[in-house]
Amino acid sequence: MLKILVLGSAAGGGYPQWNCNCETCKGHREKRINSTARTQSSIAVSSDGTNWLLVNASPDIGQQLRQCQQLQPARSLRDTGITAVMLMDSQIDHTTGLLSLREHHKRLPIYCTRMVHQDLTTGFPVLNMLEHYCGVDWQEIDCNQPAFSVPGIDNLEFEPLMIDSKAPPYSPHRHDPHPGDNIAITIRDTTSGSSVFYSPGLGGLQDSTRAAMKTADCLLVDGTTWTNDEMQTRGVGSKLASEMGHLAQSGSGGMIEELSHYTCRKILIHINNTNPILDADSQQRRLLQEQHIEVAEDTMEIVI
Ligand code: MLT
Ligand code: MN
Ligand code: ZN
Repeated sequence: MLKILVLGSAAGGGYPQWNCNCETCKGHREKRINSTARTQSSIAVSSDGTNWLLVNASPDIGQQLRQCQQLQPARSLRDTGITAVMLMDSQIDHTTGLLSLREHHKRLPIYCTRMVHQDLTTGFPVLNMLEHYCGVDWQEIDCNQPAFSVPGIDNLEFEPLMIDSKAPPYSPHRHDPHPGDNIAITIRDTTSGSSVFYSPGLGGLQDSTRAAMKTADCLLVDGTTWTNDEMQTRGVGSKLASEMGHLAQSGSGGMIEELSHYTCRKILIHINNTNPILDADSQQRRLLQEQHIEVAEDTMEIVI
């Protein structure tokens, strides 16, 4: 069995975002639209429902763990269902939750690329800081290596893939992209062969990305914005989605068009608070339904 728990389905800032009064954030607060609140980007993966790999550690991790009882197996006085942590990038919404894991009773196994490790020991030195608490057992993800396993997470293998996206604004090499700044991961059940492709920050698709997606039984991909200039048209910022390393859904060459080539289960995740698809009754959401594309929600369970 391959089980995925969506801990947080929103992009950085969550939904509604604390300081935002855009149409969707305000609409949610005033209950004018049909939408569900969402915490920031993270999933948990397991084959046995007891031992979990946390993929991305969101600043909302405390709330997420309280909401998902399955991650607390209570086998001893101090216990957690989190066996190890894997990071897709070093973005704030994917890494600041590591600080909340500092009470771990042993060194925390963290799987990430060399570039992510560099950011997390320089621009945002959270791994250095954790050395004063639980400590970290860094396991390098090398995208040139074949699929690997994670001790304690039985019957699953992980195949990393370098993708187009962006290092975070705080990164010493924000404007100087390196392979390994952002990865996607194929998670495969070694017993059944079934797999999920997870990529919450996908700036564009290359042949290698499409090849990995073709073999998956479920795609869990970047659903950040509907249009590339959404931050501008919603009046909340000047950055294009593409400048932040995200491929917008609509339009020519957008995520919807890309996904039309796949017949497997398709789910958008990492939804920005400005995205009109957050309103379940929106015309944009109807369009997704017609294309058989789902929108992830917090606590959603995906069993493959
Ligand atoms: C992103 O995915 O572009 C970032 O997480 C944005 C952020 O950190 O707020
Ligand atoms: Mn993000
Ligand atoms: Zn907003």
